[in-house]
Amino acid sequence: MLSLIQPTSPRWVDAALADLPALLSDHAHCEIKAAQSALSLVSRYAGELPQLVEPLTALAKEEAEHFRRVHEKLTARGIPMALPASDSYVTQLSAAARQNRPHDLPVLLDRLLVAALIEGRSCERFQLISEHVTDASLAAFYRDLMASEARHFTLFSSLAAECFGKAESRARLATLAEREGEIVTKLPLGPQVHG
Ligand SMILES: [Fe+2]
Ligand SMILES: [Fe+2]
Repeated sequence: MLSLIQPTSPRWVDAALADLPALLSDHAHCEIKAAQSALSLVSRYAGELPQLVEPLTALAKEEAEHFRRVHEKLTARGIPMALPASDSYVTQLSAAARQNRPHDLPVLLDRLLVAALIEGRSCERFQLISEHVTDASLAAFYRDLMASEARHFTLFSSLAAECFGKAESRARLATLAEREGEIVTKLPLGPQVHG
């Protein structure tokens, strides 16, 4: 359903939960980046495709609220939020899309599908955290966020199909999912949502 070809290694859960403060801090930044990226799509494409404005501004609002909730968890545990760092997974996935993009393939199609895959991978990982974290309140929190990320995967893949057609978006998603699977298996395991 989430178009993921490679499941996350079970060893990632151990690596992620071994440093909960670092994981929560990285997660907080992921939520901010998700809100920023939705708004950057709005700013670039609102003129051409005004139908993107309503769903993507609603998404940005929801991601900002996710950030607020993760930040609340950090504060409750006395964990200061780290400075933002670049996300190798997102950087590599965007670069892979760019490198193998046929010249006539719309950039927006890739931006929507890359966003869909990021949401899909986040959903899978939040489920793993919710199943393995020992803190019951965090388990419930991640179960809740997992459901949001599944909805966001559907939102981005539906917007891609709506704007560029079902067949073209499905074919491109399959190609990008292959690249995503290769990237995710090579990244070092650590306390990052996508690490
Ligand atoms: Fe989120
Ligand atoms: Fe999301």
